Amino acid sequence: MSLRSPEQRMAELRETIAHHDELYYRQAKPEITDQQYDELKRELADLEEENPLLAMMDSPTQKVGDDRSEGFQSYTHRERMMSLDNTYSGDEMREFLARMERELERTELTYFIEPKIDGLAVSVTYENGRMVRAVTRGNGIAGDDITANARTIRTLPSQLQADAGAPIPELIEIRGEIFLTNEEFQRINEEREEAGEALYANPRNLAAGTIKQLDPTVVAQRKLEIVLYGRGYTEPVAALPETQKRFFDWVRAWGLPTVANQWSAHSGDEVLAAISELDDLRHDLPYPTDGAVVKLDSVALQRTLGATSKAPRWAMAYKFEAERAETELKSISIQVGRTGVLTPVAELAPVQLAGTTVSRATLHNRDEIARKDIRVGDFVSVEKAGEIIPAVIAVNLDKRRPECVPYAFPEACPVCTAPTVQLEGEVAVRCPNLECPVQVRRRVQHFASRACLDIEGLGEAMVDQLAEKGWVKRLPDLYQLDRENLLTLGKNVGKSTDKLLAGIEASKTSELWRFIHGLGITHVGAAAAKDLARVFGGLRALADATMEDYIRDKETVISGIGSTMAEAITGYFAVEANRAVIDDLITLGVEPETPNSEGGGTKFAGQTFVLTGTLPTLTRNEAAEMIEAQGGKVSGSVSKKTSYLVAGAEAGSKLAKAEKLKVQVLDEAQLRSMLSGD
Ligand code: IVH
Repeated sequence: MSLRSPEQRMAELRETIAHHDELYYRQAKPEITDQQYDELKRELADLEEENPLLAMMDSPTQKVGDDRSEGFQSYTHRERMMSLDNTYSGDEMREFLARMERELERTELTYFIEPKIDGLAVSVTYENGRMVRAVTRGNGIAGDDITANARTIRTLPSQLQADAGAPIPELIEIRGEIFLTNEEFQRINEEREEAGEALYANPRNLAAGTIKQLDPTVVAQRKLEIVLYGRGYTEPVAALPETQKRFFDWVRAWGLPTVANQWSAHSGDEVLAAISELDDLRHDLPYPTDGAVVKLDSVALQRTLGATSKAPRWAMAYKFEAERAETELKSISIQVGRTGVLTPVAELAPVQLAGTTVSRATLHNRDEIARKDIRVGDFVSVEKAGEIIPAVIAVNLDKRRPECVPYAFPEACPVCTAPTVQLEGEVAVRCPNLECPVQVRRRVQHFASRACLDIEGLGEAMVDQLAEKGWVKRLPDLYQLDRENLLTLGKNVGKSTDKLLAGIEASKTSELWRFIHGLGITHVGAAAAKDLARVFGGLRALADATMEDYIRDKETVISGIGSTMAEAITGYFAVEANRAVIDDLITLGVEPETPNSEGGGTKFAGQTFVLTGTLPTLTRNEAAEMIEAQGGKVSGSVSKKTSYLVAGAEAGSKLAKAEKLKVQVLDEAQLRSMLSGD
């Protein structure tokens, strides 16, 4: 430590911690790791203990980090939301257990161990079984009201299930964690990379950034998930079971998502064994976890122990150290993506990391290399972001050799030599040449891939061959391949050629959303493509859509499509070459199946529905899909032509308008009985 006085160092630490709190809680863009942050806090806590006169009431060691941000209503929790004390050491965990035993004057305690979910804390309130509110932790006393965004989480029921063994309290604040899976994190980052946007460092930041989006349609495009694990304020007060373990059973019985992995333990050894079991499992779990939470199982004893100003005395988090490795950066190579984005990749001296050998890692983009001053020949530390892709985190400057010079990012595309560009507001550097051979190949590969047209026989290697021969330069070329030419690709390829051609032929009548996704328009993933297919019903209609066709009020059912995406789509079709692709595909006989012709019924043929408010069990998208599967149309606004308004809780202006126009109003139950035909 420094020669500064404890007072100076403490002030400095408070300031530094406040800075990192702002980055982590409010901006979801931390610059240091959890462990580095925890070390700063630990140093401050130690100094405060040694110098009690200098300790301050509002020190960051005494309060919960504040996540509140602009644009949200503040809501005061009925019961405070707390944080957890944490440790990285098994010995400290044992000390914590021993302390509880001492204070309670008992040795036969039962502990409950849960994974610590790496997301953001949320409190969901249910009144008589209906979800009425979701609020972030905020400063522990009041948080941001994120109800609208939380309603886009498909697994969060708006109505609790009745269960004889688990009576639903009149009112309960249930605590849990909103998170993103590693796969979804990866998917969104890939999409952002293609769009030239800054990447998120890990699933937690992405989940936090998502829940704080002011536009719920953007939130709905990202598959947020949630698990619930804790109790907040409850009425009547004695309505819940007496142990944490049993409380979990109730939460599950109510139909709320919970984590499957939990342990009960009766000694320090058993607690540490459970933690180590979790450590072995954690890379394969369906949620991101950065540690274990050890809780006293008995709620009565929890009450006896109480809490400090920010954390309960009956629980402690054990955090796993981030897995990192240091290795030499041998060179930097540049990959060109489907939309021309140049991604720098670190070529590393192979090193073991979290169970695999890593020899390549992403460097994200030009700005990141410059910001971290990463140079070829440096020793760098590598971490797995979201468990999958390794990323270069930092440079070990102590090992920098004088001959290492700053990296010069290429000014020309390494594939086609076109001068690169950087669009305003983007972090990505791009190759602007739409005919750049790599872009062409990647576009066709994407189109044929499983997630899109899923064309049998047209894997990446085959696309490479077709592109190399110059037979496929644009998507329509796929539908004009010459059998004789294909037969020259190898010996005995007759059978596989016929299979390939049959696969391509069959793709002509694939579902519409597959084509839309296959075009590779920025921001348009599979979920959005499905929404677009439902709304526009055909390739031509999509190509002709103007911004007005997208902009409707926020309650609109087509939802999912925010203005960023709408601009990307209209921008895409403003390019003549892209319109020509659609025209040529149609001329060549591509005739996608529209959602309404998907073998559904015709009960609602000719009828127009409008959906509004929150339905008890269906999301509006699900209801729309069910209506459309029966040939009905779903529109965003009520007019004289509307056949039915389906209204849920908190229906607003649309309900009023429907009543004025004497449009028949249905609730979900009535809609369901019409769907089932009686
Ligand atoms: S118990 C009063 N259990 O970790 C008890 N918290 O670092 C406090 N967290 O704010 C919460 N998984 O957001 C608990 N299984 C779990 C958890 C968990 C994640 C979060 C929670 C809390 C933070 C503390």
